[in-house]
Amino acid sequence: MGDLVIVERRDAVRILTFNRPDKLNALSTPMLTELEAALEEAREDEATRVVILTGAGDRAFVAGADIGEYAEQTDEAFDAFQRFCRRLFDAIDMFPDPVIAAVNGYALGGGFEIALCCDVLIATSTARFGLPEGLLGLSPGGGGTQRLTRAAGPFVAADVLASARRLTADEALRAGIVAEVVAPEELLAAALAKAGAIVKGAPLAVREMLALVRVALETPLAEGLDREHDALVRLRRTADAAEGVRAFVDKREPRFGRG
Ligand code: COA
Repeated sequence: MGDLVIVERRDAVRILTFNRPDKLNALSTPMLTELEAALEEAREDEATRVVILTGAGDRAFVAGADIGEYAEQTDEAFDAFQRFCRRLFDAIDMFPDPVIAAVNGYALGGGFEIALCCDVLIATSTARFGLPEGLLGLSPGGGGTQRLTRAAGPFVAADVLASARRLTADEALRAGIVAEVVAPEELLAAALAKAGAIVKGAPLAVREMLALVRVALETPLAEGLDREHDALVRLRRTADAAEGVRAFVDKREPRFGRG
């Protein structure tokens, strides 16, 4: 693997860092190819419980797709690139374990779209979120129109899309997109603290709950409630549920496995 996505393991947490700071971590095809491999590796690793995505340097998480590449692509290559992004961003969205976006500056275009595929967003006070594709005569292709509308509602989405306005970290917090805003120097610690809180939960239970959040976005309420019931009954039969309940009664810390 190259060094466009740096992979760092810290116990059950994997930190993937977009690493093209001189280009504000713009998403080139080689970088996205590395991201795909790094995610696949994380998914196959039983020991990984949480993935953190962040950007190198102090200016950007990701400032969007690489516009230089756009300029050179044929229509066919552009189409293929967008389909690749669709697959990859869906893989982040559907990643079975929690993915935290630690947003350290610009999250524009594909950068915002990747963040919207994550489960929890933590942002520095300097973070800026936008979908400025309209200024290029284009529209988002990595889920921006769909996921932002679902996440923040049609009025926030219409404003951000049509005016190319960048949301500040506090605006993103108020819109319900960001969970926490921290000082730039506290970002990694805050993301690791969030990961630490997640790791305390039973792995299967956490996975089921994240899947149910996705279900809630896509199904009528009655069906979603059925799915929730089924998941709970399924979890109740696991060794982890027996352990979690027993540990509470015994007033000790639970020791969870993966089932
Ligand atoms: N693709 C390719 N290169 C990018 C990029 C992108 N999406 N975003 C930034 N860069 C590059 C710049 O070209 C510049 O490279 P250079 O030093 O070789 O000229 C470098 O990153 C620094 O960016 P610069 O524009 O000089 O910084 P700035 O502080 O003046 O502006 C932004 C920052 C984010 C406002 C500006 O870079 C920008 O608008 N980027 C494009 C955002 C966008 O439209 N994203 C959606 C793409 S579909």
